[in-house]
Amino acid sequence: MSIEVSARAVLERCDILAAHSEEPDRLTRRYGTPPMTHVNDVVAGWMRAAGMVVRRDNIGNLIGRYEASETSAAGVGASGTFLLGSHLDTVRDAGRYDGPLGVLVALAAVERLHARGQRLPFALELLAFADEEGVRYHSGYLGSSIYAGRFRAETLRAVDDDGIPLAAAIRAFGGDPDALAGDARAPGDLLGYCEVHIEQGPVLEARDLPVGVVSSIQGQSRMTLGFTGEAGHAGTVPVSMRRDALGAASEFVLAVEAEARGTGGLVATVGQLAVEPGASNVIPGRAILSLDVRHPDDATRAAAGARLREHAQEIGRSRQVTLDWRELGQSRSVTCDTHLSALLARAATDSGYAALSLPSGAGHDGVMLSRLTGIAMLFVRCKGGVSHNPAESVRQEDVAVAIEVLGRFLSLVAAERGEP
Ligand code: GLV
Ligand code: MN
Ligand code: MN
Repeated sequence: MSIEVSARAVLERCDILAAHSEEPDRLTRRYGTPPMTHVNDVVAGWMRAAGMVVRRDNIGNLIGRYEASETSAAGVGASGTFLLGSHLDTVRDAGRYDGPLGVLVALAAVERLHARGQRLPFALELLAFADEEGVRYHSGYLGSSIYAGRFRAETLRAVDDDGIPLAAAIRAFGGDPDALAGDARAPGDLLGYCEVHIEQGPVLEARDLPVGVVSSIQGQSRMTLGFTGEAGHAGTVPVSMRRDALGAASEFVLAVEAEARGTGGLVATVGQLAVEPGASNVIPGRAILSLDVRHPDDATRAAAGARLREHAQEIGRSRQVTLDWRELGQSRSVTCDTHLSALLARAATDSGYAALSLPSGAGHDGVMLSRLTGIAMLFVRCKGGVSHNPAESVRQEDVAVAIEVLGRFLSLVAAERGEP
């Protein structure tokens, strides 16, 4: 099977998965929803056809295992497991490559081994995580946090926008919420984790490179905050006498932007804003906002979060609006494993491409996996650096390069373990 045929199959499969959406006219696939069940079924079928034994854990991560050769060519007993993967959930109105591309490039690499009847001196586990984006329960890395044994039990109390608790969603998705802790992967035999992902930024395109090797993933904090004032009549209450929750929220949104502009390297985003009761002739009584803060340096991120919280309190005091502020989760900045990244860079140069090292502004399942084992990531150029947007686009030639580089990388890992 040529690499081009494999790359075309990856893109066709991304299209097939993109047809499984919660919404008819756009791609939205949140944790535990029926389209997630469908894509898990479809991907499980592809994994089995590629010679993998497939299981699902309680949160709904799909895990395909491609067993090792019985003994390595050097006659040494094969041992260990190398992990590959990414996620199958999406944001709202998503593109089709953020997540699925990484799962399907890894699947293509296994498929190519299987087609040659080749086994490596270690097993491969392909992880298709059930939730990385955290759209439904506002908690990122839900799938990989369970696999990495980092799940926090209080997350089970989260409810979605329809009032469905996470525990109920897990049951509806076929898992047992009381058994999550037992799904944590023991790190004992792990040799590393490698994730392929679209870059989600413009650097590779600007440098005219198909792929790049990730050096680090910046840390992030997610919060939700609510301003509560008093709802009232839009025609009768003088502006000076109002306790307008949306006025407070608006001031805060601009404060977030100013904080990010004033702190080198900081990105901070209010991506959701709900106004209650929500009528054109009613003064907003409550406004609920999401807040996402990221920086490569954890202390700078924490300090910015603290300043924003103080700022929100000040806004509340000056407008006689109360504030509730809840931390939903945070992840520290993660450095990719130097040795695995060097192997990935060598795989890229052996394939004929410069191995540009670049940091990741976006979060990835690798953050959680870094708690278990060394991680490496390969970015694939995407058009205009656009992501979290239906306009996400990748070239088939670049996907072919990613398959080739991942295959060479696995051979290099195998060579280190005695395989010629
Ligand atoms: C995931 O895409 C994230 O960085 O939020
Ligand atoms: Mn994403
Ligand atoms: Mn992603």
